[in-house]
Amino acid sequence: MSAPRTPVTVRVPAKVNVQLAVGAARPDGFHDLANVFLAVSLFDEVTATPADTLTVTCEGPDADKVPLDRTNLAARAAEILATRAGIEPAVHLHIAKNIPVAGGMAGGSADGAAALLACDTLWGLNTPLAELLDICAELGSDVPFSLVGGAALGTGRGELLTPVGAGTFHWVFAVADGGLSTPAVFREFDRLAEAAGTEIPEPQASPALLAALASGDADALAAVLANDLQPAALSLRPQLARTLAAGVDGGALAALVSGSGPTTAFLCRDAESAEKVAAALSASGTCRATRIASSPAPGATVLPS
Ligand code: C5P
Repeated sequence: MSAPRTPVTVRVPAKVNVQLAVGAARPDGFHDLANVFLAVSLFDEVTATPADTLTVTCEGPDADKVPLDRTNLAARAAEILATRAGIEPAVHLHIAKNIPVAGGMAGGSADGAAALLACDTLWGLNTPLAELLDICAELGSDVPFSLVGGAALGTGRGELLTPVGAGTFHWVFAVADGGLSTPAVFREFDRLAEAAGTEIPEPQASPALLAALASGDADALAAVLANDLQPAALSLRPQLARTLAAGVDGGALAALVSGSGPTTAFLCRDAESAEKVAAALSASGTCRATRIASSPAPGATVLPS
């Protein structure tokens, strides 16, 4: 198959972790996780266009916060794929950004996965999925999930995925002012654990949570949502407690910090309730913006040209 000359656009979802169980720090600095990922219907789009050299541009409300150099996971994805294929990364990558930046919703990871699929398609490489997933794991712990989407249990540092069943759920996300650094939140997790002096158990996926997720029963899922990084995120950003409370007061079934934060996630009974919770959060003045989404959402997908 010859490579298409027309630009290729890939749509890619954000994620929320409905369970994030964190183990002790490993010798390599990472933490073993039992990480139940759920893709949600907030999407970035990455368009790959043939160009002389590798360049990245970005549009969207937070575009000024997105690095456009080789630290951007989209650029790194193109470089790694090109090196493996023995070609030049001669591509322009344009990111239409809707996922909160540095928000704990895997927005950077999503762009890495989307760029990988877009370049693979543009260059006509047809790289097998297993190899694409290897490159994703090299890019970051959350990137493999961004590629596959849906719902999955991530073990290891989060990159080893097993698909799990998931019914439909409705969410509101509250976008905070500023981001939080994921390494800083993990360091705070380590500090709090050391200060508490308790042994950190092996991270395990909760059977009750997996059953609730599969059943589509929002009340059952609300009762078991769990994020071990939440105390660390709240320690670094205490004002998030007010956002969490405002969403629950506004009618959410449950609230939690999304991943390493500072975006907060609110599970709602249905789409109508989500509208009300979003309005209550906006009125509370405890967040910068709100987004309504549902789950599960498909992974990275090439859009028809
Ligand atoms: O894999 P990724 O590049 O997204 O990880 C960013 C940082 O988050 C790591 O450098 C590490 O500090 C922390 N991390 C961790 N344990 C994980 C995943 C990430 O400590 N399982």
